[in-house]
Amino acid sequence: MEIDINKLQELIDGSDNIVFFGGAGVSTESGIKDFRSVDGLYHMKFKYPPETMLSHSFYVTHKEEFFDFYKDKLLECTCGADPAKPNAAHLALAKLEEIGKLKAVITQNIDGLHQAAGSKTVYELHGSVLRNYCESCGKSFEASYLYKADGVPKCDKCGGDIKPDVVLYEEGLDNTTMTNAIMAISQADMLIIGGTSLVVYPAAGLIDYYRGKKLVLINYDATARDSVADYSIHGKIGEIFSQLKIG
Ligand code: APR
Ligand code: ZN
Repeated sequence: MEIDINKLQELIDGSDNIVFFGGAGVSTESGIKDFRSVDGLYHMKFKYPPETMLSHSFYVTHKEEFFDFYKDKLLECTCGADPAKPNAAHLALAKLEEIGKLKAVITQNIDGLHQAAGSKTVYELHGSVLRNYCESCGKSFEASYLYKADGVPKCDKCGGDIKPDVVLYEEGLDNTTMTNAIMAISQADMLIIGGTSLVVYPAAGLIDYYRGKKLVLINYDATARDSVADYSIHGKIGEIFSQLKIG
């Protein structure tokens, strides 16, 4: 059922175990492109399809090209001249957690903006650009170290290649993160899904663990799972959350 902001406010006011499940659409109002919108990353022209360049096999066989794409399209918004900041959606979710109504944010995003907004319990299903490690000795590195490196970033301790802690296509998701996310969703009285096309698995399959009757889908476009939502709002999630009275 399509609802308005007043009904969303009523549902949130009546819940004290909310879980949020989000995707790239949560960060577009912070200036970070999503993937599948008409102006998203996957509609842009590159020498190789973006989903190929973000795969494990491409990372292994074309490391230089991988890092060219990764730095230009995924790191620029975090380490570039005008780094992305949390928007009203990130801030509202952090506030809902602070007042004890929201128990966890589960995100497919790798930009770290939920934590930057103040969220504490954040399950990053696809990892984070903020975590990077040497594939030989395991030393950790800041994202800025990779951003500044020419070509393939090398460890300053052992000379090994540095890999971002992001889940590439063909790679598995972290078991502990998945288990925590499933626990949170299965215990939630309200599940808010926002800014995701819900087409990438296993992430999208997590919403099937929700047992309640208050599944709210907030998305700009129609999604693959609109029919299973109890309530939906089609619009910009930052704009929508900025109208909520929280706390
Ligand atoms: N408010 C609400 N919805 C929005 C907004 C916004 N401001 N901006 C975009 N959207 C919606 C789009 O309509 C789209 O349906 O967010 C959705 C984003 O979908 P995708 O681009 O497919 O992003 P996502 O669902 O997060 O992709 C999942 O795919 O490539 C992989 O690993 C990558 O984590 C990513 C995964
Ligand atoms: Zn090393």
